[in-house]
Amino acid sequence: MGGAKTDIKLIDENGLRFDGRKPDELRPIRIEANVLKRADGSAYLEWGGNKVIAAVYGPRECHPRHMQDPLRAVVQAKYNMASFSVSDRKRPGPDRRSQEISKIISEAFEHVIFTHLFPRTSIDVYMEVLQADAGTRCAALTAASVALADAGIPMRDLVSSCAAGKVQDTIVLDLRKEEDNFGEADMPLGIVPRTGEIVLLQMDGDLTLEEFNKTMSLATEACHKIYELQKDALRRKYGVTDDEDVQESVDAVAESVPDRQEEAEEAFEDEQEES
Ligand code: CDP
Repeated sequence: MGGAKTDIKLIDENGLRFDGRKPDELRPIRIEANVLKRADGSAYLEWGGNKVIAAVYGPRECHPRHMQDPLRAVVQAKYNMASFSVSDRKRPGPDRRSQEISKIISEAFEHVIFTHLFPRTSIDVYMEVLQADAGTRCAALTAASVALADAGIPMRDLVSSCAAGKVQDTIVLDLRKEEDNFGEADMPLGIVPRTGEIVLLQMDGDLTLEEFNKTMSLATEACHKIYELQKDALRRKYGVTDDEDVQESVDAVAESVPDRQEEAEEAFEDEQEES
């Protein structure tokens, strides 16, 4: 990003991209919920050349025990790239990049999950990238969000994610590998569509303020489209056909979940006094 030179014409004379897309066009996305038998919730997602599977377990007893939080569930997201997912074999196991992505995804979900309902537990979210073509953190976050809903984890809303950036002086949506490698900027965004809150924002490269605003609005608009695809995947799986029904049940969960924060804190204080 930002420096590598290429002879590839990433934007042609008609303003179209390397793969024929317009600057504000997403790659094709397909999401399927509930694809794994053993997990509490799961999802499979194809997004252009990306293929990601997400599996959710929990809330379950938190291990290692020292990670337990007496007031809330901890969200442990684990992003992993398969060795065969990239053109050069990726060395198996955790590396700095996957640890960073796991951390930011855990933090994004901590903002939407009602963690205070499940003290001392862990909600484990596994994301396996089977094939990578740039934008895998957005793809993993989007898939994992559907898997969490499939697991029945109470949340304020789904998280939807998409990147936008700058390629050969043009602001473009949803960069693919060549654009990511030879472009000037890439900015992954994750939002809570119902409220517009930002739960993930990173940037690789440079943008002026004006370019940043344009990139933000492109990515935000795309997140709302992806939100519809996520809900659609859940609707197809659970046979709900009416969009209003889905929105109603999302609203009902959000309103009916009691705020047990105070209750949990009092229980914790009592316990401290006793010991
Ligand atoms: O995938 P994402 O855009 O979220 O993260 P990145 O660190 O910007 O990586 C961009 C792309 O580079 C990945 O999607 C992969 O296609 C590729 N990559 C790779 O080929 N080998 C790696 N070890 C890491 C990334």
